[in-house]
This record gives sequence, C-alpha cells and structure tokens, in this order.
Amino acid sequence: MTPAPSPTGVEPARVRALLQQELATFAGRHPRTHALHERARESLLNGVPMNWMVKWAGPFPLFLEAASGAHATCADGHDYVDLCLGDTGAMAGHGAAPVIAAVERQLKRGITTMLPTEDAAWVGAELARRFGLPSWQFTLTATDANRFSLRIARAITSRPLVAVHEWCYHGSVDETFAVLDGDPGDPFERRRVVPRRGNLGPQVDPSQTTRVVPYNDLAALDAALRDRQVAALLIEPALTNVGIVLPAPGYLEGVREITRRHGTILIHDETHTICAGPGGMTGAGGFEPDMLVIGKTIGGGIPVAAYGMSGEVAERVKAAVPHEDADVGGIGGTLAGYALSMAAARAALGEVLTEAAFARMLPLAERWEAGVAAAIKRHAAPWSVTRLGARAEYHFMPRPPRDGAEQIAHVDTELERLLHLWVMNRGVLMTPFHNMALMSPVTTPEDVDRHTAAFDEALARLFD
Ligand SMILES: Cc1ncc(COP(=O)(O)O)c(C=O)c1O
Repeated sequence: MTPAPSPTGVEPARVRALLQQELATFAGRHPRTHALHERARESLLNGVPMNWMVKWAGPFPLFLEAASGAHATCADGHDYVDLCLGDTGAMAGHGAAPVIAAVERQLKRGITTMLPTEDAAWVGAELARRFGLPSWQFTLTATDANRFSLRIARAITSRPLVAVHEWCYHGSVDETFAVLDGDPGDPFERRRVVPRRGNLGPQVDPSQTTRVVPYNDLAALDAALRDRQVAALLIEPALTNVGIVLPAPGYLEGVREITRRHGTILIHDETHTICAGPGGMTGAGGFEPDMLVIGKTIGGGIPVAAYGMSGEVAERVKAAVPHEDADVGGIGGTLAGYALSMAAARAALGEVLTEAAFARMLPLAERWEAGVAAAIKRHAAPWSVTRLGARAEYHFMPRPPRDGAEQIAHVDTELERLLHLWVMNRGVLMTPFHNMALMSPVTTPEDVDRHTAAFDEALARLFD
C-alpha cells in the first residue's frame, strides 16, 4: 500500500530512517562534546545552562570551543558556518574587532558605576537617527525593553490591556504568551484568547491582559482596539519567530492608521527585524511607531537593549513619573545602561553594523534564498522560501505563510530536526527553532554555498 502523502510532501518513514543515520553520525563525530554533556548533566538541568538549548537537533547539544567571525568550532574541533549567529545576538559577527577594542578599553575605565557616560548619549543619538524616535532608555535584554514599554503605555493611557499578533514572540513577556483557540479557517467562529502551548505558570490568565490578532488581518485589529481598552499594540513588523511572515502590501500602514485612530500606543519590536536594514523595517519603510524596541544585536554580543519613544510619549512619561518615584515602579535594572554596554553599543553601531555592512549582508541572504529556491525546484519539493533583508527561511508549504497560524499548521518537528542535523553534520549551524538563516557582515559566499550544497543533498535523499 502507498503511504498517505504528508503535508510536507515527504514520507515520514524516510525522515525517520535518515534521522537515525544522522544521529549515529553525529554521535560518532562528537565524543568530547558527549562527555562534556554528561558532565554538565550532573549540575545543570538537562545538562544545559538554559533549557531551550535542549532544542539542538543532535542526540546532545554541541558544546562550543570558540566562535569567530561567521564561524564556530565545537569542542570536538569541527568547524561550522554559523547561520544562527546567536539568534541575532551575534549578527555583527563573533568578536568584531571594534567591539572587542571598545570593551577592552572600557574594562579598564570602569565597567559599571551609577553614572551615565558620553557613549550613552552617542548611542541614543544614533538610535534616534536610525529609527526616527527622539528619546531612549536602555536595558540589558529586549524582554525587559518590551516589558517596560508595555508598562509605560498602560501608565500614560490609563488603559488596562495590550494587544499582540498571534504566534508572536517578544521574549518572556507574560502578556504576550497568548493565542486564539478554535479554527482559524472558520469565519463564523468567535475565537477566544488562551495561553499558548508551553506558557509555563502564567501569573494570570492572559485573556485578562491581552487581545490577540492574526498577523495581516486589519479588520481583526480594528475590532480588537475599537473599545479603546488597549493601551499598546506590540508587534514585530514582520513575524520572525514562528518562521518569517511578511506584511501584505499596506498592512503596516493600516496598523499605524488604526492604532492612531483608537489612541493605542504602537510599539515596533525590531529586535530581529533589524536584519532588514540599519533602521530595521521601521527605517526602511519610513514608519512612525510611538515606541520602538531593539535588543541583542546592538551590543555586538554584550548584553544591551533599548526602547525609544516619540516626543509626545516622552512628555507623557515625564508627567507620569514624579522625581521621587524615578528609581522604583516596575521599570529599572541596576546594570541597565551600564558603561560597558554603552561602549560596546557605540562600537557595534558606529563601526560594525553600518550601511556598508548591510550592503554586504543583503546579497548574501539573496544568494542563500536563491540556492534554497533552486534546490526546492530541482527536487520538486512543495516548499517555499522567504527573505527579510539579511535573514531568510524555508517553509514546508508551497507558498509563504500569511499569518502565524498558517505557519504553525505546516510545522513538522521531525523533518525540521533531520534537516538541521543533516546540515550540522556537514558543517552548518541553523537556528534550532524553525528553518532560518542569518547573514553577518563577515559571512562569505562560500559559507552560503556550504549550506546550499548540504540542503540540496538532503532534498535529493528526501524526494528523488
Ligand atoms: C522579536 C523579539 N523580541 C524580543 C526578544 C527577546 O530577546 P531577549 O531574549 O534577548 O530578551 C526576542 C528573542 O528572540 C525577539 O525575537
């Protein structure tokens, strides 16, 4: 009997067989990594310092020996082209020389005091230039920058709720871990907000804090904001964390118009979409959010994130926070804006993630996209590929998804694991979640082609 075709077009039995083969190859090539993982299991939960690292595709995670430029070396001495780049934290490339020099200088001049530095003023002005918002604050993570932006929005609007896109990711921000239940394809069903899968111990049921709207659905957004209970809409201009989902023409313009009409603060989270250009999608499209969050990349690997606000929001914040309360109130962080992070951000923004760097990164992502598209065509896989600036992604569906639910409906974790492991065994690291690749200014065409060759070989085994 012919097995039923799966939505990905691949026979599950083939995937399973290849996965067993690749798991054995991986284990054989990594005795030292295996020993390190066994040792780590004695003191770390699941043998990793942060539990999401268990998501690496091998039988145990790779342990890092060193990373430099666009490459990483594992504890067993194998070289990898690094296409995950610390999930954007290392988009500047590992160990960019200007960042190292600035950090070394600052280590000797004062790591953390309680005082602002000239670098902070320089970085604020540079972020204002790139993103068009005049007033900035710093944190150590994008998660914190998002949390604080939401607090500010609630404080200045006196509204209780926030809104997000379905299947968004903005860090571990409680209000954002919500989805809609029911059938996304049923136009008559009234869909309720529910905690998303994996929402661990939520403080409150997110249906009390959050409205959820499908990406690319302006009518749903209008309905969610119309009663003027929503303080802020927090969005990635394109979804990047469930797989890349791009805006339909006019979507982001519509979002701006609707949020303005209903008095909802629009927050663009550019933490990942900075891959679109020096000013992210906001700068590239000339958009005017009320607030903007950027994290990970801007310190070249040193912890730093930022949130910016329009002049109007800044005035409302100043009016809402009396001097006596400036040090408390749910917004803070002892090391936020500390000297070392500001020195790193000045170097990363001023000397590494420049216009010229993006001019190198974008053609590399186009090359990756073209290579993957050609392999998909050659092997007649019912898959597609999407690109957002220096980042690209393939999907197990014949056309790119229009919203998060559509992407989620086409996830195949077994197949994903196989493809990640397949390329890892051939010297390429992909982000452990979904099928995304990111270029740095020092990634080379040969690095891109290493992935293309391995991907093509995998598709030959899966489809031919
Ligand atoms: C869009 C977006 N915002 C915020 C975050 C949170 O960043 P961090 O974990 O550094 O706080 C992430 C992390 O992946 C992200 O993709």
